[in-house]
Amino acid sequence: MGDAGLLTKLGYLFVLRYFENAVKDERAFGFYAQDDDTNKVMGFSLASPEPSSLTSKLTEDKNWFVRNILKVIFTRPLAFLQMAVSSITIRGQMYEPNTIECVYFTVDPNFRGRGLGRTLQKALMDEGRKRGYKKIYASVETWNIASLKATQANGFRIIKTFREGIYYRHRLESEL
Ligand SMILES: CC(C)(COP(=O)(O)OP(=O)(O)OC[C@H]1O[C@@H](n2cnc3c(N)ncnc32)[C@H](O)[C@@H]1OP(=O)(O)O)[C@@H](O)C(=O)NCCC(=O)NCCS
Repeated sequence: MGDAGLLTKLGYLFVLRYFENAVKDERAFGFYAQDDDTNKVMGFSLASPEPSSLTSKLTEDKNWFVRNILKVIFTRPLAFLQMAVSSITIRGQMYEPNTIECVYFTVDPNFRGRGLGRTLQKALMDEGRKRGYKKIYASVETWNIASLKATQANGFRIIKTFREGIYYRHRLESEL
């Protein structure tokens, strides 16, 4: 469903492992939209109170991680450097208890621009509120107008703009 940012740069195996871990993580939650006619997944969203735990789980199986990260170091060294910068940035990102992060939301290009992205993100907010969380955060690249529009329409406001390696991102928050 398009570019998942750094994960995509690391390669499909990392994307797959990340989302497999997210599905198993009891504190992470998400939603997907499915086309009734074709059963095709149209989009999905994911939130977690501790997004750094999802990234650190990538290193849990040491053999798998070393084997695959070595390939990245030799074939895409810049992606490896970015991973190091991002993991440090993400670790320092959660300031408060009772908050969640909108980790990711995406919509198949064929279904974009119809309010689905906004709805999938709103579902995270409604579920977060039900689970007792008080605030939701998101980081969105400054060029990503579609994501910014959907996120701001859901009531998020920009609290700062920062650099994370090659990425320039807005940090946004909303009360739940
Ligand atoms: C971000 C994303 C999930 C939005 O999904 P969507 O279903 O198209 O979102 P919505 O229809 O709910 O809202 C998107 C808004 O952006 C606008 N928009 C969409 N594409 C745009 C573009 N290229 N330029 C400017 N505005 C755009 C839409 O018109 C809409 O605004 P409106 O409500 O004022 O009309 C989708 O573009 C996507 O999957 N992008 C790739 C993955 C990604 O970047 N995810 C977010 C990571 S932070």
